[in-house]
Amino acid sequence: MFEKTEALKKLFTEKVAKATATSDIEQLRIEFLGKKGSVQALMQELRNVPNEGKKEAGQKINEAKQYIENAITEKIAELKKFEEQKLIEATESYDESMPVSVDYGSYHPITLVRREVEQIFLSMGFSVEDYSEITDDYNCFEALNIPKHHPARDMQDTYYLSSNQLLKTHTSAAQNTILRKYKSNLENGNPIRAIFPGRCFRNEKIDACHENTFFQMEGIMVDENISISNLIYFMKTMLSEVFQKDITVRLRPGFFPFVEPGFELDIQCLICGGDGCPSCKDSGWLELCPCGMIHPNVLTAAGIDPEKYTGFAFGLGMTRLAMMRYGVKDIRVFNSGNLKSLSQFTEKSFTNPSNESKEA
Ligand code: PHE
Repeated sequence: MFEKTEALKKLFTEKVAKATATSDIEQLRIEFLGKKGSVQALMQELRNVPNEGKKEAGQKINEAKQYIENAITEKIAELKKFEEQKLIEATESYDESMPVSVDYGSYHPITLVRREVEQIFLSMGFSVEDYSEITDDYNCFEALNIPKHHPARDMQDTYYLSSNQLLKTHTSAAQNTILRKYKSNLENGNPIRAIFPGRCFRNEKIDACHENTFFQMEGIMVDENISISNLIYFMKTMLSEVFQKDITVRLRPGFFPFVEPGFELDIQCLICGGDGCPSCKDSGWLELCPCGMIHPNVLTAAGIDPEKYTGFAFGLGMTRLAMMRYGVKDIRVFNSGNLKSLSQFTEKSFTNPSNESKEA
């Protein structure tokens, strides 16, 4: 029996060495340890062994069985490791030069204009602030010198939530928060300079020029001796960059309770150059950006001394700017979700994710 068990171990060792997959091992397990396998066959032979040698022969068979079982466990572990490694190598070995066939879509035209304007203001030392779309009566109106029952609220009816909150009607709703956030700048001798783009909501009758959901970009600058000429300078620089040409602006008086004096900033019509055309309704000017000097009550509400500091604020209509930039005649295109329309303005659209990191 000794020779037989040794021969069996040898045979198994040879066969297991040739196994290259876990499925091969399963075959070997059946062949050697199964009900009709080699070990079981030796057990049958035990009957023919004389009594005095039975015990030892049985031990030999058990030993061989144990040997095979251990070898199987070891081999399975080894093969699993090998198979995992092969899988890792297979997934890693892709060809980087292969063109990506998936179309990753395009940026929304408002995103494009917003990013461009952000870059310009960043280069002029402004920080870009984020502010939620849900706000409250205090921030949206009271802190902006619009008390309850003020007629200016009529133009800014919006969507009220059951929590006494509301969807912001203008980006000015963040003025108080941002002024408070940065007022320590002033004590340290630095100006407050921030822009805060955002989505705004109003209860509007929708047509080609009006939407209930639109984008603005608010900007504020506060310091000692800030005047209207600073405001005009920043607006002119930004617009000339966006349109890539020298832009002529003018100010008309405009009323907003949170600025004093308040203005409507117009730009000279880019289509006719100021001579008058259908786009500018023959006036030669296009209304673009309400603005003004921050009202002393607004500064006081943020804990800033209006005797010492002054500042300007503007509310750039991003949706209006995108319409002018891309020649979009109907505002409803922007919220339409119509990819055929929206993707065509995208000079920076990308079909390869690597372009996105360049863009960002
Ligand atoms: N928040 C005003 C609006 O949406 C615009 C504005 C902003 C006016 C800043 C003056 C200064 O109508």
